[in-house]
Amino acid sequence: MTQKIILDTDPGIDDTMAIFFAFQSPEFEVLGLTTVFGNVPVTMAAQNALSLVELAELDIPVCKGVAMPHVGPESTYAHFVHGDDGFGNINHPAPTGKLDGRSSAQFIIEMAHKYPGEVTIVAVGPLGNLALALKLDPELPKLIKEVNIMGGSAFAPGNVTPVAEANIWNDAYAAEIVFAASWKINMFGLDVTYDLPFAPDFTTQLAKQNPKLGGFVQKAAEFYSDFYSQGKDERVCFFHDAFPLAYMVDSSLFTMTSGHLRVGTDPLHRGQTSFAPVGSTTSELWLNMPLINVATAVDHPRLTQLFIDVYGN
Ligand code: BDR
Ligand code: CA
Repeated sequence: MTQKIILDTDPGIDDTMAIFFAFQSPEFEVLGLTTVFGNVPVTMAAQNALSLVELAELDIPVCKGVAMPHVGPESTYAHFVHGDDGFGNINHPAPTGKLDGRSSAQFIIEMAHKYPGEVTIVAVGPLGNLALALKLDPELPKLIKEVNIMGGSAFAPGNVTPVAEANIWNDAYAAEIVFAASWKINMFGLDVTYDLPFAPDFTTQLAKQNPKLGGFVQKAAEFYSDFYSQGKDERVCFFHDAFPLAYMVDSSLFTMTSGHLRVGTDPLHRGQTSFAPVGSTTSELWLNMPLINVATAVDHPRLTQLFIDVYGN
């Protein structure tokens, strides 16, 4: 049976690679793309998501979500990583279709009620839409099957500050709300996503397997690889956002560790995901938080092959 998912995203180049992976996998029924500010402003994230749906020739709702962090001023965007257009400056034409009229949070709530216990939220951007949905409908955790998050880091250093990963740093107060809610969370952070650099040969293979969608990823990833390859001898990039989806296709690819996680919100620790594996602490600051699962290791060759195989479907 297929798994119903909502992809909450801020496309974004690794978001693009993940979205096409979801579209190509027979494992998923993608109910909709909900968008959020993050790599780019939310208006651009929503238009980009629409472009990706159109490129794949699918009829899937795309919703616009929160534009601002839960607390504090507008965030800074990662155009230096994803390009001015969020697609690596490839001059892709604007989409022709229209956005769904519902907000991202409304869409999540509606789908959760329509398919109680069946919907998994795959969140690969900052967590503002999920925090808002929780505020609007506190019963949500009872209706959602799982929340699979790309974000944070248990043991590895951050990528925005020494301690914080971008998605969590961008909306730390929202993340704190999401991690405190009583739903089943699997977190895929920099411990695994930064552990697997992809060489140019990888996107060449995606393009070979799927000239249209893989070809788009290959083109968009040029600018993205320029960023990630600075100061390195070899060209590489990272496809963070596809990891939670890969887990849903084959959980045996990952080692998962259970524990309690807190999110820092003060300036020094903003966005830090501070993780205490089960049995490692007696502090109630952690024990009062729900148990979550964190990916702490991944099988590189098998994961890489899965991405390539699924693009070829
Ligand atoms: C995360 O931040 C964004 O730049 C990527 O799309 C990914 O979701 C990695 O830290
Ligand atoms: Ca993302």
